[in-house]
Amino acid sequence: MELLDGKKTSLDIQNELSEKVKSLVANGTNPPHLVAVLVGDDGASRTYVNAKVKACERIGFKSTLHHLSSDTSEIELLKVIKSLNEDHSVDGFIVQLPLPNHIEDHKITLAISPNKDVDGFHPENVGKMALGLPTFLPATPNGVMELLKRYEIPTEGKNTVVIGRSSIVGTPMSILMSRKSNPGNSTVTLAHSRTKNLEQICKQADILIVAIGIPEFVTSDMVKPNAVVIDVGIHRIEDTSKKNGFRLIGDVNFSEVSKKCSYITPVPGGVGPMTIASLLMNTYIACNERN
Ligand code: GUN
Repeated sequence: MELLDGKKTSLDIQNELSEKVKSLVANGTNPPHLVAVLVGDDGASRTYVNAKVKACERIGFKSTLHHLSSDTSEIELLKVIKSLNEDHSVDGFIVQLPLPNHIEDHKITLAISPNKDVDGFHPENVGKMALGLPTFLPATPNGVMELLKRYEIPTEGKNTVVIGRSSIVGTPMSILMSRKSNPGNSTVTLAHSRTKNLEQICKQADILIVAIGIPEFVTSDMVKPNAVVIDVGIHRIEDTSKKNGFRLIGDVNFSEVSKKCSYITPVPGGVGPMTIASLLMNTYIACNERN
């Protein structure tokens, strides 16, 4: 079994971007500028947004965090989005999800200008992705694609099973893996909560991508020997033996499954860092297209 090291791969990509930024700046261009909007105090969202902002600083991007209170109204948030759409100093921005219940995610996503939508969530960008046209690809699935590419994992003609049909991960993941591209060209099954015989379906998978949001859901009896296993889940569970009182686990039972598969992403240090690398790549593209 070989680990798909997302932490190292993400740092490689960040170093490559950092070199590109140096030459942009040397030519008198402003560095890429990413704005992250966070509404409320969800602990996990704060951690993710801070990691995104920190990564920008590390590679010489400009980054701005707009932290709004949890009682921000939908109208107020739409105003912030309008001003970011119109602000020429901003190359791309994201609104971290999930939003508080009184705000409808899709209204916010629709309001973001597609050419600044570095999350790739706007329907126009989702449509372009589905058609195989150049666009901003959503960060987590594209991070997985980049990991498969850099580890030269063959995907053409393989059976890929994606578990979970969220619009942020599972659905775009299934589209990207079936597109006529490399990585891609896979025969994809998108499994979800209503899927029957999930265990049988998973056992057919040469590549198993798990984004179901249930801790250690996938056990070794669901995995084909030598499969490639991508774990998108991340959960904090209490662990009194740890200094901070918790540890992170994924949607895959790593200790069991790692003994059976050919490649696996660890949690932490697998898909998570790749999501950040992917967002930075999109921001760099947004900046290039503006200049
Ligand atoms: N919440 C979980 N993943 C993401 C992501 O990739 N982008 C945003 N904006 N919110 C998220």
